[in-house]
Amino acid sequence: MKHASVSEVRDEINSALEQVIAGWQGPRVLVDAMRYSLMAGGKRFRPILVVSASQVVGGGGIDPVPAACAVEMVHTYSLIHDDLPAMDDDDYRRGKPTCHLVFGECLAVLSGDALLTDAFTLIVRSYSSRPELASSLVRELSTAAGSSGMVAGQVLDTDPGAREAEGADLERVHHLKTGALLRACVRMGALIGGASERDVARMDRYGMLLGLAFQVVDDCLDATGDLATLGKDPGSDREAGKVTYVDIMGVDGARDYARSLIDDALDELKDYGERAVALRWLARRVVERTC
Ligand code: IPE
Ligand code: IPE
Ligand code: MG
Ligand code: MG
Ligand code: MG
Repeated sequence: MKHASVSEVRDEINSALEQVIAGWQGPRVLVDAMRYSLMAGGKRFRPILVVSASQVVGGGGIDPVPAACAVEMVHTYSLIHDDLPAMDDDDYRRGKPTCHLVFGECLAVLSGDALLTDAFTLIVRSYSSRPELASSLVRELSTAAGSSGMVAGQVLDTDPGAREAEGADLERVHHLKTGALLRACVRMGALIGGASERDVARMDRYGMLLGLAFQVVDDCLDATGDLATLGKDPGSDREAGKVTYVDIMGVDGARDYARSLIDDALDELKDYGERAVALRWLARRVVERTC
């Protein structure tokens, strides 16, 4: 897949998300808040990853787009909650004022709750003719997002006492808070594409390395980026007193570390030839990105 076709996938995801939104029947103000954050203009890195991973192992004729949309809904919920005053207390996200600043904290909490919950409804409904696949996708996504995945990472990220009590180093925090969901994207795509166990294992390792690199680069961008490019407040980690990869390795060291993780991730793709063009492009994007 070339650059142009990655942007075609992004367009397809965005129009599929619009269709999902059109089916929401909750109170107007809730739907407005959910829509505001979901359609505020994210990179759609995770859903593109789901679609690209499904293509590597053959595609299997099953549509990966609903699962991709579900992942984006879970990701968007995590961003809304991450920005709340009780967590990172940030004012900008995706180039716009954060959900809680526009709709209030109560609706920000609830719109995140709804995006998370509705993501699973979307999967179950969309793959109802393949109950085993639906169940595997729900398991992958819920495990990655839940108390032994992303939420665990968010607890360790925001509570130094909990981190110490668990003996969790920064790598573990980053694997959990960010890596787990990116890894799930690749695994979900592989399952939709009908991958063998061996392929899933390779995709898994690619996803794990990519996920860690993604958050290492996010740490760098927080230290070096600007609001106009990033679409979110830079310097947020420093302000919150968080230790990041930039503190441990410096910006150049952290970027080098991310590059080495991506080299290892690319190694996992070497047997897939043309079919892995999009996954290779996405891996390079992780270190090249400026937002
Ligand atoms: C931001 O994710 C949160 C992290 C896990 C680092 P992205 O950088 O993918 O944000 P969007 O989706 O493009 O807004
Ligand atoms: C976020 O990590 C991880 C999530 C689960 C949302 P950050 O707090 O570093 O993400 P940004 O920088 O606010 O996007
Ligand atoms: Mg955070
Ligand atoms: Mg944050
Ligand atoms: Mg950050």
